[in-house]
Amino acid sequence: MNDSSDLFKKYNERFNEIVKLSNELNIIQDFDILLEKILISARRIVNADAGTIYIKEGNDLIFRHTQNQTLQNRLPKGKKLPYNFFRIPINKKSLSGYCAETGKVLNIPDVYKIPKNTPYHFNDDFDKVSRYKTISILTVPLKTNVNEICGVLQIINAKNENSEIIEFSKDDEPFIIHFANTASLVLERAQMTRILLMRMIQMAELRDPKETGAHVNRVASYAVEIYEHWARRRNIDEREIEKNRDMLRMAAMLHDVGKIAIPDTILKKPGKLDTDEYEIMKKHTYMGAKLFYDQHSNFDEIAKIVVLNHHENWDGTGYPGHIDFLTGDPLIKDNNGNAKPKKGEEIPIFGRIVAIADVYDALSSKRVYKDAWNENDVYNEIVKLRAKKFDPEIVDIFFDCIDEFKAINNRYKEE
Ligand code: C2E
Ligand code: SIN
Ligand code: SIN
Ligand code: FE
Ligand code: FE
Repeated sequence: MNDSSDLFKKYNERFNEIVKLSNELNIIQDFDILLEKILISARRIVNADAGTIYIKEGNDLIFRHTQNQTLQNRLPKGKKLPYNFFRIPINKKSLSGYCAETGKVLNIPDVYKIPKNTPYHFNDDFDKVSRYKTISILTVPLKTNVNEICGVLQIINAKNENSEIIEFSKDDEPFIIHFANTASLVLERAQMTRILLMRMIQMAELRDPKETGAHVNRVASYAVEIYEHWARRRNIDEREIEKNRDMLRMAAMLHDVGKIAIPDTILKKPGKLDTDEYEIMKKHTYMGAKLFYDQHSNFDEIAKIVVLNHHENWDGTGYPGHIDFLTGDPLIKDNNGNAKPKKGEEIPIFGRIVAIADVYDALSSKRVYKDAWNENDVYNEIVKLRAKKFDPEIVDIFFDCIDEFKAINNRYKEE
């Protein structure tokens, strides 16, 4: 056994510690799906026609989930309501803003008959645009267990047995408060997940100081930009795009998280790696993927895909290929008994996207082992690698996104 293998064993042990820690991530469930279910249950229990969950972001409330049976019924079967994100500032002027600022429950029998002397008003823009008639609204704060407000649950138009709109009764309030508490728990858990993820990203950066936060942010932003173009070309539902975008951003930030398993002597080597060293370096793909092995959420799945597949090549010359990512053993072998590299659409789309984002950034940046390339050389290289290293369609999309990439580069400059 040579030196690098011994060192690798040592790092492997440390790495297993991190694997244990990161298993905590696997208790998470998909955040949006949970909120959606909570909203459905809350509406069902008080027989409400519509409902919205707002999430606090800075000094605003973001309209995150909305359901409306009446509007839904006007759409062809299977079609979803248009999904618009909008913000309401947190202040006493709106119902939801008032609720978020004061923490009070607002039970309004008829929003068009709110007395003039109250601080809050009903904004009828949504009714006008959608030709919907809002009448009764019950608005409840989402509070964390330290009593911080993290959002608002709003239930709209209670109905009686004859489907006539009625007001929410005082007895409805405790039920809705119960669902608001559940939603708060989900939100807190998702926030904790984010904090854990950011910690993992930082750990990876500490190991590889040349790959700064700026690099990680740029790769993630390029990847999201490319994904959006790719998804729009396929008419993928906006809601689906929105959901994947967040998760892809996080996953792309973690693409090289497996480098925490690579010894410093290799990772920080100022010159070219020899064959043995490069073989060890290649393990950063499946070593990283192990962190997400116990897939319980969409996020785990996307992170695993990105980490495992970001060095596969379109023409089947990349790595690690068809392997069992828990053991590193080949699942499909080539003629030499090594794992057969994945090829073309065998490589998941998120892997194909992060591959180009990563190389674009690696070529444009200085590394311990290389200088930064100039812009034209980078573009020429990417053209050269079209249909070789990279999915040809992704290369075409890449060149449609150059302006956006430049904006991203300005935003995340090297410290
Ligand atoms: P990285 O620095 O993030 O590079 C990511 C990928 O960008 C590389 O994957 C490669 O496809 C591309 N790339 C980077 N620099 C160049 C270049 O000068 N020319 C070309 N044609 N492509 C380039 P790859 O090769 O699988 O490497 C994975 C990781 O292994 C690299 O991540 C880096 O951390 C490490 N690495 C690769 N080669 C060397 C080396 O010669 N010395 C050292 N110290 N590390 C290396
Ligand atoms: C999760 O909680 O599943 C990850 C975070 C998110 O989906 O926003
Ligand atoms: C609010 O004021 O809480 C939002 C409801 C609306 O104005 O449509
Ligand atoms: Fe990598
Ligand atoms: Fe990288």
